[in-house]
Amino acid sequence: MINTYIPYFKKSDKNILKKCLETNFVSTAGPLVKKFQDDFNKKYNFKYSVAVNSGTSALHLGLKAVGVSKGDTVILPSYTFAATANAIIYNNASPWFFDCDRNFDLPIDKIEEILKSKTYFKKKNLVLKKNNSVVRAIIPVSTFGKKLEFDKLIKLSKKYNIKLLFDTAACHDNKIFNFEKDKKMHFCFSFNGNKTLTSGAGGIFASNSKKLIDKVKTLANVGKRMNKYDYETIGFNYKMTNIQAALGLSQINNLKKILLIKKKIFHNYYENFKVLKNIKCFFDRKNQNWVFVLIVNSNKRFREIQDLFRREKIQLDLFWKPLHLQNPYKKFMREKLKFTEFIWNKVIVLPSHPGLKNNDQKKIINLIKKIS
Ligand SMILES: Cc1ncc(COP(=O)(O)O)c(C=O)c1O
Repeated sequence: MINTYIPYFKKSDKNILKKCLETNFVSTAGPLVKKFQDDFNKKYNFKYSVAVNSGTSALHLGLKAVGVSKGDTVILPSYTFAATANAIIYNNASPWFFDCDRNFDLPIDKIEEILKSKTYFKKKNLVLKKNNSVVRAIIPVSTFGKKLEFDKLIKLSKKYNIKLLFDTAACHDNKIFNFEKDKKMHFCFSFNGNKTLTSGAGGIFASNSKKLIDKVKTLANVGKRMNKYDYETIGFNYKMTNIQAALGLSQINNLKKILLIKKKIFHNYYENFKVLKNIKCFFDRKNQNWVFVLIVNSNKRFREIQDLFRREKIQLDLFWKPLHLQNPYKKFMREKLKFTEFIWNKVIVLPSHPGLKNNDQKKIINLIKKIS
């Protein structure tokens, strides 16, 4: 089977895991979690971060730390993984689903237009006319691991006084984060096994705000800050383990190589597919690093390619299904989602991992060319 994603492990990954077992540091105790955070901060140009047990946990606590609470409303795209919405609901707030534009970004102008008609300011808070719920935050999502419009989004969040939490779960190219960050921008990453950089499972909440980092750290550590059994708040047992951090550290050391191999694979796909008429590449050469994506012109075409791939033992699943179309999320507020509803079942995520063999990539390229 040629899988969409498999992690890329070298001897160094195995050695560091072996060391954890030899030193007995397998739980949340151990020296490597701090080192992982420090190395991550250095690599991704953040002042602070808190390593947790998943990207979902980073989102959950990140929202809590920025002040999302019962009755609030949070803006997000419907085209995302469930965790983005779930984290809002875990905080007893409500998701407000928006469409994305052709670039898979939240459409800032459109959002402004809608905010102007559906909200008003009350004591500096942006409030929904419909039910007086405070629109507390916005979560832009890095789709396919692409770069986000960081500058425009911080401007929007300041203008409307809404907190900004970036769901950069799968956006792992450190060059994308090499910019001066505002203390009001906060970022959640996932290191699940299907991501460019993996710690098995795991995540990080990263920020340049010490205040926010301290809050997330305490929340992730069962509400404790200092002593073993002194609790400051009702927290969560969300800490990353030493084993996860060990793997994450070794992956950070290999990140440059991993990204380089992936870029070559992506470039090869792009050079072969850019001329196709009915199948389009969704590809930003500089700013995309997780998965390589093709867009087909109909769902029928998607299913044809899926059937062909199935016969050839190549994994192809439908990618994210819009959340607003699914039972658990149907009751929440949503705007018109024309592009999202049109595009989601035409997205082809090709095998995109660094271990993809040349011959396997050739096979995929030939099949797509033949069917296009
Ligand atoms: C956009 C997005 N947000 C959040 C997550 C959640 O991360 P995790 O699986 O580490 O909880 C994912 C995971 O794939 C994701 O794609």
